[in-house]
Amino acid sequence: MKIDIISAVPSLLKSPFEDSILKRAQTKEIVEVNIHNLRDYSTNNQKSIDDYAFGGGAGMVLSIEPIDKCIASLKENTNYDEVIFMTPDGEKLNQKISNQLSLHSNIIVLCGHYKGIDERVRQHLITKEISIGDYVLSGGELAAAVLCDSIIRLIPGVLNDETSALSDSFQDNLLAPPVFTRPANFKNWEVPKILTSGNTKEIEDWRHEKSLEKTTKLRPDLLK
Ligand code: ADE
Repeated sequence: MKIDIISAVPSLLKSPFEDSILKRAQTKEIVEVNIHNLRDYSTNNQKSIDDYAFGGGAGMVLSIEPIDKCIASLKENTNYDEVIFMTPDGEKLNQKISNQLSLHSNIIVLCGHYKGIDERVRQHLITKEISIGDYVLSGGELAAAVLCDSIIRLIPGVLNDETSALSDSFQDNLLAPPVFTRPANFKNWEVPKILTSGNTKEIEDWRHEKSLEKTTKLRPDLLK
């Protein structure tokens, strides 16, 4: 899978892709992540990428020209399944959307910034709009990193069997069961006996039961 991220503040996107699972996915060449600096596509001598809003107010607005130029240059070499815009008024991200996006070959993720983006970008260049929650971030970069992490971990080969994404919370609409590690007794706080019994079938049943209990208590909406 190839992910091209377009950003006005690309340095904000560096570290999430340089460590741990996301780094390994790239080293293994399962995913290619390219970060594009919108400023490199500015169409004027001042290298600006934003302008005042027509009609006044609203602060600076990201201009359509550099975005169009950047997307057009990416499309010269690649067919994209989706051109996604990160925005608080987009469709709320959930596991189902991440699962669907993880099946794609190529996606573009555009990060918004400042007060907004020329609406014509959304009307003509974007195929999907995603929010990571009902709150406003200073820009779409952190949201894009969240989206990419949730997608990349689902691509076969990124996680090994033990950490398989199939056992993540929200797969099957259930929260993941609690987990414990050594020591089995710490300050008399004991690990449930069943987990040290070695009985695989009973452990599996216990985990399912705890998943159900936890979901019923914390997120009953998922069970509907
Ligand atoms: N950009 C700013 N806030 C955002 C949010 N909540 N989700 C996605 N992109 C955003």
